[in-house]
Amino acid sequence: MKNLSRRGFIGSGLSLGATVASLSATSAAPIAKPQKTASELAADENFWRSVANHYDVTPGITNLENGYWGIMAKPVLAEYLRLTNWVNKENTHFARFDWGKTYRTLHQTVAEFLGVSVDEIVLTRGATEALQALIGGYNKLRPGDTVLYADLDYSEMKNAMAWLADRRGVNPVRVNFPEPTREKPLTEDDIISFYERALDSNPGTKLLLLTHLNNWTGLIIPVAKIAAMAKARGVDVILDAAHSVGQVDFSISDMECDFVGVNLHKWVGAPIGCGVIYIRKPRIADIDTYMGRNPGSDRITDRIDTGTFNFAAHMAIPASLEFHKQLGTPAKEARLRYLRDLWVSEARKLPGLTVLTPDDPQMVAGLTSFRLDGVTSTEANNALMKQLAEKYGVLTTRRTGPAAGDCIRVTPSFYNSAEDMTKLVQALKQIAG
Ligand SMILES: Cc1ncc(COP(=O)(O)O)c(C=O)c1O
Repeated sequence: MKNLSRRGFIGSGLSLGATVASLSATSAAPIAKPQKTASELAADENFWRSVANHYDVTPGITNLENGYWGIMAKPVLAEYLRLTNWVNKENTHFARFDWGKTYRTLHQTVAEFLGVSVDEIVLTRGATEALQALIGGYNKLRPGDTVLYADLDYSEMKNAMAWLADRRGVNPVRVNFPEPTREKPLTEDDIISFYERALDSNPGTKLLLLTHLNNWTGLIIPVAKIAAMAKARGVDVILDAAHSVGQVDFSISDMECDFVGVNLHKWVGAPIGCGVIYIRKPRIADIDTYMGRNPGSDRITDRIDTGTFNFAAHMAIPASLEFHKQLGTPAKEARLRYLRDLWVSEARKLPGLTVLTPDDPQMVAGLTSFRLDGVTSTEANNALMKQLAEKYGVLTTRRTGPAAGDCIRVTPSFYNSAEDMTKLVQALKQIAG
């Protein structure tokens, strides 16, 4: 095996970083970031045009539906393809003998990126897998306890919370967020009082699901404040940070949450199939080992078992982080919010259209939804999405999740331009006008 190890650059996990670095240097010119503040940079179309050159985007449609997953930048894609070839060629020579070391190195790299300890994380295929393992595995519940979640949480997590009734004999309660109106957008205080009321009126609550940046409307909630309020009532929080990692500048350790699910294939730009479970170290035993794996173990790596998975996707994470860091989360966040504000500032002037997130930069980043007044059905929003795509060449998506009804979500990415947002505004003016 020594020969094989020497032959393959990945033979030693420690060589992974060096190889990724040299590949990035040779396959793509690094991004030349001007010395500007994040908000100055956000409006620098020349700079973002140069960033856009690092992405191979299909022509013919203006894609403003980048919330599903994030496009890989060209150097990341090249590395992923190279690793896919390599893993395919080396096959079990690699997987049986060298994967363990590589796996540990990858965990170290991801832990450093997330600002947490390596024995507090484990890689998964995505945020769904991570959060389902946390919700299903949380073992502090007793029959009759209440578990709380909201309409704006993600569908699979809402299902998992409701399923705890069967699994743990608990009482799941869903609360519905207040809807903003044209006259009164939501404030941070509204959200804090919403959760305060929910906790007060459900005193048996033991577990609360929070979504940092929700996928339906784009609202960012003040997680640390809500989690502190929950903790003071003896309520544990599971945090869904699928949309915030890489889109919003924050640190997991500041969130006051002991259990977090994340993915890296949305805003970090890793290949599809990269997620993370975070559990604060003293709390690991409060999540069952996965489906009976190593009962009694206190290792976080026993909290998930995916079986054989896409090695190359995880091995390309360092390349995605390297590309991500060239821009940095603050610059990404500022640019996405800038593009969002371009269309929202015009859309707010249109009669009959409500923007579903406030403009407060603490409460929104790039992702924002709107609803035409009274247009709440799935059919009508599907038709609107189709009209935007087919008549105006702008791709958005219909969302079915908020209790108040369906809406249309607009999510720019790093390759989008101010011109793309103008195209959307012109379409909305015709539709809403
Ligand atoms: C808020 C939120 N949570 C979780 C997920 C699931 O993420 P994944 O695709 O990594 O399973 C998504 C995906 O869109 C999401 O928007």
